[in-house]
Amino acid sequence: MAVLVTGGAGYIGSHAAVALHEAGREVVLIDNFINSSPLAVDAIRALTTPDLVFVEGDVCDRAQLDAVFEMHDIDEVIHFAAHKAVSQSTSAPLEYYRNNLGATIGVAEAMIEHGVRKLVFSSSCTVYGQPDVIPVTEHSPTGAESPYGWTKYMSEQILRDAAEAADLDVVLLRYFNPAGAHEGGTLGEDPNGVPNNLVPVVMQVAVGRLEKIEVFGGDYGTHDGTCIRDYIHVVDLADGHVAALDALDGQLRGTCTAVNLGTGTGSSVLEVIAAAEVAVGEPIAYEIVDRRPGDVEQIYADPARAAALLGWRSQRDLAAMMGDHWNWQSRNPHGFTE
Ligand code: WQD
Repeated sequence: MAVLVTGGAGYIGSHAAVALHEAGREVVLIDNFINSSPLAVDAIRALTTPDLVFVEGDVCDRAQLDAVFEMHDIDEVIHFAAHKAVSQSTSAPLEYYRNNLGATIGVAEAMIEHGVRKLVFSSSCTVYGQPDVIPVTEHSPTGAESPYGWTKYMSEQILRDAAEAADLDVVLLRYFNPAGAHEGGTLGEDPNGVPNNLVPVVMQVAVGRLEKIEVFGGDYGTHDGTCIRDYIHVVDLADGHVAALDALDGQLRGTCTAVNLGTGTGSSVLEVIAAAEVAVGEPIAYEIVDRRPGDVEQIYADPARAAALLGWRSQRDLAAMMGDHWNWQSRNPHGFTE
């Protein structure tokens, strides 16, 4: 019996693969390397087992997906594979709807066809859009602000309806802002091109790949004028996926349940930069510039439901995230390179 991890060579997928192996599960990864590297698979195998099964493939190709279910004894799925750049989604919405919704539908159809019931879906706090009340709970109003966010919102609905009609057991994990890396420094975030997200930008400035951080807005209604987010260590996030699969064998069996994966602590952009400077050991250049359109002023999670339903709480703080992310970035200045 094995867990199929789609997007398994990606930032969160690769860390989940390690956590699943450490929890004693047999893991099968599938990835098309559109936003990941074959070298990540080597790093995963070095941290788990050399014969960990990896299939290069596109989950939107039904024949390829069926072949994986037929060749391997899959009995649960974690679905990460998706395009995930918010800004790119606004310039290429149809590609995002086709790819992300097509992948979700294909995975659900393949599961039903092959009699697999248990699914953990990679959703996002972007489904909350601009929250009126923080911290956000799973009952907070939802409504996305970008095509990317709508693909997560719509995928959740697709899976709710599929779970109802076909008796699937589903957990929809709404991630906040992933950061950090495996403590060994051989696995980490390696965005294609110039990164959109704050922490990779901070670390690429620190390692000399970028000149300075542009801080998007210093005039928000927060304690230091910069936006607040709930940064969560990617290893905590990975552990949350193991806990979600376990819950599908327990109290979440027969349900389709949304769960926030956040720390419950908000950190501002300037606080992230300050924590990174401690990890790096020197100042990191930044300039406060205009706001980025579509940015939420502040959002962070109420993590109570994850504790109640998954028995999971984040264990690592912002200092650990910055320390582990810097450990990866300083050892791999250009990410996964031949
Ligand atoms: C964080 C803060 C920016 C870059 C992300 C993902 C989204 C979802 C949630 C998974 C904001 C500021 C950033 C920079 C900056 N994750 N910033 N300068 O927008 O919260 O969303 O996490 O689904 O997919 O995109 O994250 O890291 O882009 O921004 O000042 O160069 O950092 O304004 O306040 P965001 P982010």
